Amino acid sequence: MLNHGDYNLLDGFQIPKIGFGTYKLNGYAGIRTIEQAINTGYRLIDGAYNYGNEGAVGQAVRNSSVPRDQLTVTSKLPGRFHQYQKAIEVVQESLLRSGLDYLDLYLIHWPNPKKDLYVEAWQALIDSQRFGLVRSIGVCNFLPEHIERLEKETGVLPVVNQIELHPFFNQKTQREYDASKGILTQAWSPLGRASAVLTNDIVTTIAKKYHKSPAQVILRWEIQIGAIPIPKASHISRQKQNLDVFDFDLSNDDIAEINSLTKPDGRNSNQDPAVYEEF
Ligand SMILES: NC(=O)c1ccc[n+]([C@@H]2O[C@H](COP(=O)([O-])OP(=O)(O)OC[C@H]3O[C@@H](n4cnc5c(N)ncnc54)[C@H](OP(=O)(O)O)[C@@H]3O)[C@@H](O)[C@H]2O)c1
Repeated sequence: MLNHGDYNLLDGFQIPKIGFGTYKLNGYAGIRTIEQAINTGYRLIDGAYNYGNEGAVGQAVRNSSVPRDQLTVTSKLPGRFHQYQKAIEVVQESLLRSGLDYLDLYLIHWPNPKKDLYVEAWQALIDSQRFGLVRSIGVCNFLPEHIERLEKETGVLPVVNQIELHPFFNQKTQREYDASKGILTQAWSPLGRASAVLTNDIVTTIAKKYHKSPAQVILRWEIQIGAIPIPKASHISRQKQNLDVFDFDLSNDDIAEINSLTKPDGRNSNQDPAVYEEF
């Protein structure tokens, strides 16, 4: 698998094999950084209502010379707006803030199962898609039991499940579940938010072997296990480096070694979607 290419989504649309994270990229500096990422070659831009940067994302998209239909722009529905009418209005507000005619991918940000309103939120996304406000719809941080309910109660599966995924928390079970349903798994904090994973001995040893950086090895591992990483980088050299992961293949042994780094408590901030809530 050496080409950049796209994956097919369940709904017939396509999505790039790597994206650009925008958490903490805000305001005019955020516009410049996101625009630079688009000019560097990223075609999937991951924003969210709660990042407060839909305006910056939309402006960067308009500033870039890349045609709109070649970009996949994502936003996410916050947990405090799961009620149907509120959710519909927030999708509309996302469009107004971004200044875009449509968003390519709209995700429920967290299931917040204790509130038990995520099926209602999902119905709002289904209708937003029907109204033409958003092209594709999906979820973040959904466990199999949450996805089962969406399917049972609405008959519509998400095309993407965006979850915390890096070598210290590789999400094998959730990835296998997603794949069994035809759902693509996106990896958030794919570099573990630049934590100890980047200096791990196994990762750095493999990196030396391929003459790549630890970050590149991790992103390549994510691509080879079938996930879509969405690394955030403010500096152009790191933006370029993170895209330059399509000219080598990790061996099965190297993949197995990186797989062995996962641990049950390997999440960055202990955000278990079964109990953690975000609004
Ligand atoms: N759905 C959800 O619940 C959820 C949750 C969290 C995140 N996300 C999304 O996922 C995206 C990525 O996750 P994240 O931002 O948490 O973390 P991340 O992408 O794993 O890590 C970002 C950090 O890594 C650094 N970095 C980037 N490339 C590097 C490289 N080649 N070498 C060394 N360091 C490098 C960045 O530095 P600089 O910025 O200084 O360059 C930044 O400090 C977010 O931006 C957001 O879009 C979604």
